[in-house]
Amino acid sequence: MRIKNWIAALVLLIGAQHTNAQPKNDIIIKTNAPIADVQPTMWGIFFEDINLGADGGIYAELVKNRSFEFYEPMMGWKVRQSTFREGSVLVLNRKELAGANPRFLRVKKREAADTLSITNEGFRGMGIKKGLRYDFSLLYRLPAAGLTLHVELISSTGKVIGSSSLSPAVTPGEEWKKAAVSFNSTDSALRGHMNIWFEGTGTIDMDIVSLFPSDTWKGRPGGMRADMIQMLADMKPGFIRFPGGCIVEGHDLSVRYQWKKTLGPIEDRQLIVNRWNYEFAHRPTPDYFQTFGLGFYEYFQLAEDIGASPLPILNCGMACQFNTAEVVPLDQLDPYVQDALDLIEFANGDVNSKWGKVRADMGHPAPFHLKMMGIGNENWGPQYIERLKVFTKAIKEKYPEINLVNSSGTDPNGDRYDYLNKELRSMHADIIDEHYYRRPEWFLQNARRYDSFPRNGSRIFAGEYAAQSDRTVSVYNKNNWQTALSEAAFMTGLERNADVVSMASYAPLFAHVDGWQWTPDLIWVDNLRVNATPNYYVQKLFSVNKGTHVVSALRNKKVLAGEDSLYASAVIDDATGELIVKMVNVSAKAQTIPLNIEGAGKLTGKATLTVLRSDETAAVNTIGDAPAVRPLDEGVEVKNGKLVIDASPYSFTILKFKL
Ligand code: AHR
Repeated sequence: MRIKNWIAALVLLIGAQHTNAQPKNDIIIKTNAPIADVQPTMWGIFFEDINLGADGGIYAELVKNRSFEFYEPMMGWKVRQSTFREGSVLVLNRKELAGANPRFLRVKKREAADTLSITNEGFRGMGIKKGLRYDFSLLYRLPAAGLTLHVELISSTGKVIGSSSLSPAVTPGEEWKKAAVSFNSTDSALRGHMNIWFEGTGTIDMDIVSLFPSDTWKGRPGGMRADMIQMLADMKPGFIRFPGGCIVEGHDLSVRYQWKKTLGPIEDRQLIVNRWNYEFAHRPTPDYFQTFGLGFYEYFQLAEDIGASPLPILNCGMACQFNTAEVVPLDQLDPYVQDALDLIEFANGDVNSKWGKVRADMGHPAPFHLKMMGIGNENWGPQYIERLKVFTKAIKEKYPEINLVNSSGTDPNGDRYDYLNKELRSMHADIIDEHYYRRPEWFLQNARRYDSFPRNGSRIFAGEYAAQSDRTVSVYNKNNWQTALSEAAFMTGLERNADVVSMASYAPLFAHVDGWQWTPDLIWVDNLRVNATPNYYVQKLFSVNKGTHVVSALRNKKVLAGEDSLYASAVIDDATGELIVKMVNVSAKAQTIPLNIEGAGKLTGKATLTVLRSDETAAVNTIGDAPAVRPLDEGVEVKNGKLVIDASPYSFTILKFKL
């Protein structure tokens, strides 16, 4: 009997221990003890005009080389005439009169019986949608009546799928006028083109020959491709970095990005060559130029539209150090610094200020609320620090409230990085921009990178990153599930360290399937469709579930950053009252993960799980096919604050539970 009692007591004791102590592998989430704030800017986007990102991409203009300013003035155009007559189509240059847009086309039709036409091939063809309205326009001069222009949309098989005519009014003397006509298409085409044929006789001067679809973002005439912008809006990004990227620096300083040249009427925006035109001998893109139809005004407007903070990056007086590495002498840096000061005035200034008035005249009297700005893109060395100091002094003196983003170079380690990191921290840099284009293994091994960073002082902007399935700039890089999963694992480390990392963005953002220079990229498009990569879903899921405060998620009192191939982070969202846990399993085996939610009472109810998974780490999403990797929702029961996540092999799971 005594033995029996003793055994019973032992059983009770073991039972009690079982209910009080945490089993060894439970993840304990403490919801009532936030350890860091998540900045509203935490997850954002990096936009650069690379891979036909702007011209041929989000800027919805369908006519390539609309102003005949490419190095080869008739690139993208074909002239056809039934009887060859010398001088029927001439490229004229009025450089002395119109510096920004010197060239135009003179078409002279001498015989009514002749057929004469010009055809534009578009950017890798033109995407035409059945039944949609298309808006054609041009600037012209016509000394005498007699010419009618017939505008036609042509399908990939040569069929006319929409047309209209235009008989421009005679213009007096040298005056340029705008003529426009709109018409609907009767069919779709993935790679259509536009034909203009001339009826009658006479001479017409033509410039800025343009064709836009009417279904642009927010229906703005001359605006952006709505399907591509919607992909960005869906991410609810905290910021948009713009315009790059190396494009900020330029191959040499003459082709650096200059924001002031991207404002006002499109015919006054001087076109320049895109640096990605000739950057890679293995991916030449000789028809890649920057028209700046998408300029700085449109950029600020877009940021406002989608609720993202603008983050413009300015040239710091240095051309790309992989190219010419030109630097502006320190005593001649003033115009560059002035550009930075003026940009702040353009974004935020009173409508009576010089640049605030320019903004107001373009249609936006209210400020754009610019709060941060990058000085230099991927610049390095003492030459960068010297120039940065000049910028910082001038900007902080006039606008102390603006946070400055500074470059830590091209790599997240090595001598260049160490030098810059030390210098920037001694300068008390607001935000340090780090870039990593690395193999998936690097991302897994570096999920703890920021655990040991100083908690005070400069914050980190993970400004450009992407896991490379092959090597950086290799054409064999794929946006496969392995790369996306490793990014998700790494991002749990960024989130855990939200007191150090205040911003992060994948790069590059867009790529056209027929016109890319760099891979991998977040979103692939053709002329009519967009394709979300697995990497896009990872970015989006972090961004739309960013929460407001990080809370601890520990297993055996340690963060989960690679043990058993698992990675985890957790946030709470004050606005929705939810706990959001991100869990990444990079192993080939399914794992059962018990979770204990502490600090919010004995919670019971249903939690949702959003899961991205594939058994194939090589899985990719291909345009036009059902996505191989996409988010799927499931439910899971929470009982007394406990639940179990069955993490599939190679999976990224987001748990959401209303506290
Ligand atoms: O994202 C592509 C390029 O990578 C960027 O332009 C540059 O900043 C980096 O080297």
